[in-house]
Amino acid sequence: GKGGHRHFMLKEIYEQPAVIGDSLRTFLDPARGTIEMQDAPFDPKALSRMLIVACGTSAYAGMVAKYWIEQLARLPVDVDVASEFRYRDTPLTAGEVAVFISQSGETADTLAAMRHAKAAGLVTIAVVNVPESSMAREADLVLRTKAGPEIGVASTKAFTCQLVTLACFAIGLGRARSTIDDARDQKLTRAMAEVPSRVADVLNNDSQMRRIAESLVHVTGVLYVGRGTSFPIALEGALKFKEISYIHAEAYAAGELKHGPIALIDDGLPVVALAPSGPLFDKTASNIEEIVARRGRVILITDEAGAARLADLVAEIVVLPTVDPVVAPLLYALPVQLLAYHTAVLKGTDVDQPRNLAKSVTVE
Ligand code: F6R
Repeated sequence: GKGGHRHFMLKEIYEQPAVIGDSLRTFLDPARGTIEMQDAPFDPKALSRMLIVACGTSAYAGMVAKYWIEQLARLPVDVDVASEFRYRDTPLTAGEVAVFISQSGETADTLAAMRHAKAAGLVTIAVVNVPESSMAREADLVLRTKAGPEIGVASTKAFTCQLVTLACFAIGLGRARSTIDDARDQKLTRAMAEVPSRVADVLNNDSQMRRIAESLVHVTGVLYVGRGTSFPIALEGALKFKEISYIHAEAYAAGELKHGPIALIDDGLPVVALAPSGPLFDKTASNIEEIVARRGRVILITDEAGAARLADLVAEIVVLPTVDPVVAPLLYALPVQLLAYHTAVLKGTDVDQPRNLAKSVTVE
């Protein structure tokens, strides 16, 4: 059942502190206080690049992972949507490692991409939520997410559990490749261990997100912007918003605004800006100033320090806990889920079963 919630989607959003904890515990060794990677079927030090392939929301989890693996494990990562990877005739080298991310483990394009990679001699890793799925059976290494069954068509808890698993994978790779030192490793591990509690804190913003949603029900479009790992979270926020509210939403890397999309900004266009404190904050802040100067209506999602910097400028501020920038995407994923959910409920759409969509896309 829906556990007292009106929709499966809301129930699944609220399950996130628990299932993120479950997903984390498969990697985090409480005794040693480090993140353990299972015995890898490849030599992490011998790699020169990594491929990540997925569809939809799972591909956005892959994009976040690219930033993590490049930063922490110093390994270049190519992320592809499966339907492009399969048919592009990209050169592949036997022994390369390719990661396939899929909640269902059955998505036709991702499964075919995995078979294509395997046939080319690549080492295949599947990040899957359904342990008895085709991808789980066929991959060389399975990294299981522990989201539990996800009923809502729009992925929520499966996405954040994918992020947890991929963050642990990136930290584990960084250790194995000696690209993060012990102090950084311990700091990251502590930050990860706190994520379930911080995610629970973020759910306290629910009533604010519902109030902001009231201002979005009648708009014709919403823009999402962010830099670094907040860029794929912006993409995910826009996807969630359009797929359940049927209102047009787009996401851009904040630095790309001036190369075109800024022309969209006029009186009152809602812009959801994701800007955790960290090395990229000042850059995003100046993009926000540009949006406000053109009378865009900025809904800023940030932390205490960010709120103090931009309070006088923006229409709405959602304040999240202050965390290590590495784990920020795990928190910033939630308010955009809630914003999409409440807007869709207020519009009266079928939140759990949006039109034209199926939970598992087993045709090309
Ligand atoms: C969007 C959504 C889809 C899926 C995509 C891949 O909310 O859920 O974009 O992420 O169809 O599905 P899986 O992860 O099962 O391969």
